[in-house]
Amino acid sequence: MPEPVTPVAFPPDFLWGASTSAYQIEGAVREGGRTPSIWDTFSHTPGKTADGDTGDIAVDHYHRYREDVALMAEMGLKAYRFSISWSRVQPTGRGPAVQVGLDFYRRLVDELLSHGIKPAVTLYHWDLPQHLEDAGGWPERDTAYRFADYAQLVGEALGDRVEQWITLNEPWCVAFLGYASGVHAPGRTEPEAALRAAHHLNLAHGLATSALRSVMPARNSVAVSLNSSAVRPVSQDPADLAAARKIDDLANGVFHGPMLHGAYPQSLFEATASITDWSYVLDGDLAAIHQPLDALGLNYYTPALVSAATGAASGPRADGHGASDHSPWPGADDVMFHQTPGDRTQMGWTIDPTGLHELLMRYTREAPNLPLYITENGAAYDDKPDPEGRVHDPERIAYLHSHLTELHRALSDGADVRGYFLWSLMDNFEWSFGYGKRFGAVYVDYATLTRTPKSSARWYAEVARTGTLPP
Ligand code: NOJ
Repeated sequence: MPEPVTPVAFPPDFLWGASTSAYQIEGAVREGGRTPSIWDTFSHTPGKTADGDTGDIAVDHYHRYREDVALMAEMGLKAYRFSISWSRVQPTGRGPAVQVGLDFYRRLVDELLSHGIKPAVTLYHWDLPQHLEDAGGWPERDTAYRFADYAQLVGEALGDRVEQWITLNEPWCVAFLGYASGVHAPGRTEPEAALRAAHHLNLAHGLATSALRSVMPARNSVAVSLNSSAVRPVSQDPADLAAARKIDDLANGVFHGPMLHGAYPQSLFEATASITDWSYVLDGDLAAIHQPLDALGLNYYTPALVSAATGAASGPRADGHGASDHSPWPGADDVMFHQTPGDRTQMGWTIDPTGLHELLMRYTREAPNLPLYITENGAAYDDKPDPEGRVHDPERIAYLHSHLTELHRALSDGADVRGYFLWSLMDNFEWSFGYGKRFGAVYVDYATLTRTPKSSARWYAEVARTGTLPP
């Protein structure tokens, strides 16, 4: 007799959620005194986004948030992670908060709470006020101080009703895609500036964590969301192992080091010595960055496969972050990226859920006692409504199923994972790829802005309701 298949069960209080970010969904870019962010400027610059797409309207969440919260409730979500648009709240990036901006988020939070959905607020999801970029942006130290002030304003306004806080989303992308490869706003291609940006993002995280704690109830939790990378060498050849170590420093160590251990890896300094002297790391910075955290957020999509570059092999980079003549990896010109074998999503990212398990176990070793959340995980597919208007996305269900299975394996292996936020609640502006890449569990018709839950939304609702994965 075959063994009966037992469904995979998650802890009863496991937090089932979904994620979005302000610029990707809100639209209403000129309302309520909001000023342009670097993404407004960048998306309006010809050639920077697919088809010249911008977030001007996005999915008009600013006006439709009630409908969107109702969809979340229908999906049985226990939590919703969204970000605050800095330029809505503090249009010049400094000075007092604009009440209209704060009020929008207060209404959204109250709507969530009235449906029993826990809000999780990300303070920075890539949309720096253009005013601050004009003053130098993240490579400038002052931006970190400005961020701490902004965090304090938002913490004061929402700290009484939002318990879960995330300082930064994916600082790697901010520093290295924004300032080295230039495929993200502000589109600069200056490797030294990218490393300076990374340090000032670390500092911003530390200062904001302290600022939030100074104004919020002690029960609130402060975390950061990192797109840590499962870096794998193509072989055990010492040159390939060295290449993997270098990328591990540039992808992971540059943030894990100061945030979790209070120091940059020495090997990172060595790898980047020809680009920067790190003299902008001032006395006291590492202590300011190394704040005790309440949780750690991991955004996971695909692993990275690397080797030492050989003359003939050093062709285009397959690191999945968009085409550019400039590398997002300062000091790693001797490293080559390869496509991991296996099926891929519409982004061209290989589906390999074992990387999720690998990273969760790494965090468990590196930061024992720190509760973990998957703050993003999901897949883009070319979803289309059928003649009846229904959207079937079995590939997305398979993607989510396989990743949740690996998450569960990590739980069994001792990782303290408390929740999972699907990326994304609904289709939205996928940065330089524009609206062509759909990550949503809810389909959005961009002509009418009608929302239609896909079959994955119903599948996920069942997972959230039962706390189990069907076989
Ligand atoms: C990471 C980012 O945080 C999010 O904004 C983006 O849409 C997804 N990954 C998919 O690329």
